Order: sequence, then structure tokens, then C-alpha cells
Amino acid sequence: MEKAKRKKIVAANWKMNKTCAETVSFLSKLLYMLEDEPQDNVEIIIFPPFTALRSASTFLQSESKKGLNLYLGAQNMFYKESGAYTGEISPIMLKEFDLKFVLLGHSERRNIFGETDDLIVQKVKSAVEHGFTPLICVGETLEQREKKETEEVLRKQCLSVLEALKEMQFEDFVIAYEPVWAIGTGIPASPEEANDVIRHIRAFVGSAFSPEVARKVRILYGGSIDTSNFRDFLLESDIDGGLIGTASLDVEKFVKLIKTAASVS
Ligand code: PGA
Repeated sequence: MEKAKRKKIVAANWKMNKTCAETVSFLSKLLYMLEDEPQDNVEIIIFPPFTALRSASTFLQSESKKGLNLYLGAQNMFYKESGAYTGEISPIMLKEFDLKFVLLGHSERRNIFGETDDLIVQKVKSAVEHGFTPLICVGETLEQREKKETEEVLRKQCLSVLEALKEMQFEDFVIAYEPVWAIGTGIPASPEEANDVIRHIRAFVGSAFSPEVARKVRILYGGSIDTSNFRDFLLESDIDGGLIGTASLDVEKFVKLIKTAASVS
């Protein structure tokens, strides 16, 4: 795979963290810290909680992004446009903000909130229909890994979504491989192991779409990335960036992660 042609992504999944004030403070420090070194060879995505999207998008619209490829995304989305779905957020509501991405299928959504592959497919379709780029998470649990089911689990998680995307002729999606046992545990997968799995995912994309799409699609690793290990993941042939939880909450660490990605691009 020609790695150099795929622009790296450094994505911050803040989960249920940060108020509006904390979000604006983080973003203003981020812009300040990257002011003289725009790192325009990487894409930065921030996924704040829903409640902070208005503050984040208003703040970023009022500031010059100074050559940064900085995007906002939502951490989840329901697939219907409106209706009796208490507690849910629709694509129409998200369109009020300046968002490019929607994170879908995160393992916390699958495992804590019971989201199924079918529901995730509906959400992915709706996201695309409404002009968002889906960042789709896949990954196996510890139990599945111990039973050596990783490839089969990922094949199933990927194929339903890939078929739907193929039907819509939408090729500009992003995938994140996040082994559930590595998320928030401080125990990441090894870079080689993550690369191996990501190569398989790329092959699934190749068989669903074409070798050309497989060569272009960005696939990230996520799970206990920090400033000490990110570089090793990025040096692998098929890993195009990271989806970062804990380490993305601290602006100094996040800036280091961005600079690391820029330096290996
Ligand atoms: P982590 O979370 O970096 O805290 O492991 C990653 C994620 O859940 O996206």
C-alpha cells in the first residue's frame, strides 16, 4: 500500500467530558499552540459532547484556523430526522453546526447502549444522506480475541456497513479499529498486531469496493494511544492515524500527538 498518499488523521474522542467553557478553553489553547506550526499535512478532528457543539462551532467560526485542517464531529447520531425518540439527536439538528464527521459504532455505544450492526448501518446511511462523513468504529472484545474470533467479528462489523456504503456509492468514509480490551485500559495493542488487523480491514474494503478504494481509505487505530506510543503505530504501513480518548483531553498531550503525526507524514 502506498502509505504516503493517505493524509494522517488525529481524532479526539472526548466521550462524556468537557463543558462548553472547557471546550472553548481547549480550542483556544490548541489554536494558540499550533499558531506558528500549522501542521497542515494532518487532519485534526475533535468530537466534543453534543452540549458543547454549539460553543465549539461558534468559536471556530470566529477564529482563523491558521492553516490547520481542523474539523468538528458528533460522537453519535440517530438516523431519523425527527419524531418521538426521547433523548436522541437527529442529523437535521447536527446540520445546524459546522460538522464534517459523525462517529458511529463506537464500542461504548455497542456494548453499553446495545447498538447492533443493523442500527449502525441505518445511522451510517443517514449520516451520508445528510452530508456527513462517517467515522466508523469496529473492534473485538477480549473474549472474542481469546477465542480467536477477531477476524470473523471484524468481517461481520465491516461488511454490513461497507455494503451499505457501496450501495450509496460513498467512498469517503473513515474506519477506526479499536480493540475493546485496549480502550481506556492503558494496554494498547502492539503496533504490529494492530497493523495486521487493519490490513485485513483494508482487504474487506477492497473486496466490497475495489483495490483503488482500499488503497485510499483511511483506517485509524484507537485504544490507549498516548504520547509515548503513537509514533510506533504511525510508522506501520497501514495505520493512518489515531482515535484518541483519554490522551486527547489534555491539550498539551493532544498537541504533541498532532506534531508526532505531522512529523511522520
Ligand atoms: P482511549 O479511548 O484512548 O482512552 O483508550 C479511545 C476511544 O475510545 O476512542
